[in-house]
Amino acid sequence: MDRLKDKIALVTGSSRGIGAAIAALFACEGAKVALHGRDVHALSEVLADIVQAGGQAIDVTADVTKFGEIEAMRCRIEREFGPIDILVANAGGSFTTPGPLEQTSEDEWRASIEGNLTATFLTIKSFLPRMKERRTGNIITISSAAAHRPYPMAPIAYGAAKAGIEILTQDLAGQVGPYGIRANCIAPETILTERNRQRIPSAQQQDLIDWHPIRRLGTPEDVAHAALYLASADAAWIAGIVLDVAGGAVMV
Ligand SMILES: NC(=O)c1ccc[n+]([C@@H]2O[C@H](COP(=O)([O-])OP(=O)(O)OC[C@H]3O[C@@H](n4cnc5c(N)ncnc54)[C@H](OP(=O)(O)O)[C@@H]3O)[C@@H](O)[C@H]2O)c1
Repeated sequence: MDRLKDKIALVTGSSRGIGAAIAALFACEGAKVALHGRDVHALSEVLADIVQAGGQAIDVTADVTKFGEIEAMRCRIEREFGPIDILVANAGGSFTTPGPLEQTSEDEWRASIEGNLTATFLTIKSFLPRMKERRTGNIITISSAAAHRPYPMAPIAYGAAKAGIEILTQDLAGQVGPYGIRANCIAPETILTERNRQRIPSAQQQDLIDWHPIRRLGTPEDVAHAALYLASADAAWIAGIVLDVAGGAVMV
């Protein structure tokens, strides 16, 4: 399986969860993968698993809400591997408590916008110039089903940040297509990551399962396979889409 043979990929937020699954699949498909996060212990475990499976990877750290740290990370990846071909801007999450808008504090609002929309913007801003210079590249951003319809358990700030990522990706696809660069977005529904397994009570997990036409929750690997498709030559004519990975729970 060599669909990404000799490609260099960065998957932000790959110390755990969805990002770790994307990184592992990309490495399995022949890519050299830069693993990224802030938790060095978690990163070293993902790295060890990839190397043990015969893949090539390095681990890098940066807070993706800080442009200076992203730039330092980019320099390190370029020193070790060279310029990246594939950027998966996956790092993010919900940093706000769900609830009425007027009870959302300004700090919580800013945390979700910064940690998702601004982080995605800054990450792309750092890596895009080299892609344009080389006239090749592939950018995948991560939204959420929360951007597609109101859901009481999803904070407004998170849905708004993810909706911003979608239009950012589509604007970007229009700008960079002429440079041979494709940009696409994936919008997952609830994915049973380790964190969600612990966070979502089992009764609520069952309610969510019953609500999906495909009667299960998504796995990190479901998202990884969608990312592999978009990153591969199989999707050569696909740009500017938002791909729902949602077990049929989101139908636009
Ligand atoms: N799980 C779901 O149900 C679901 C559904 C829809 C969309 N998504 C989206 O999918 C993406 C991955 O979600 P996940 O569930 O896999 O999350 P997760 O298990 O909480 O992992 C989040 C990853 O992002 C990194 N990260 C977060 N903020 C960062 C920052 N400021 N700087 C550097 N690294 C940062 C974390 O690094 P460290 O832990 O090392 O600090 C970790 O590697 C997120 O964008 C999320 O919004 C998830």
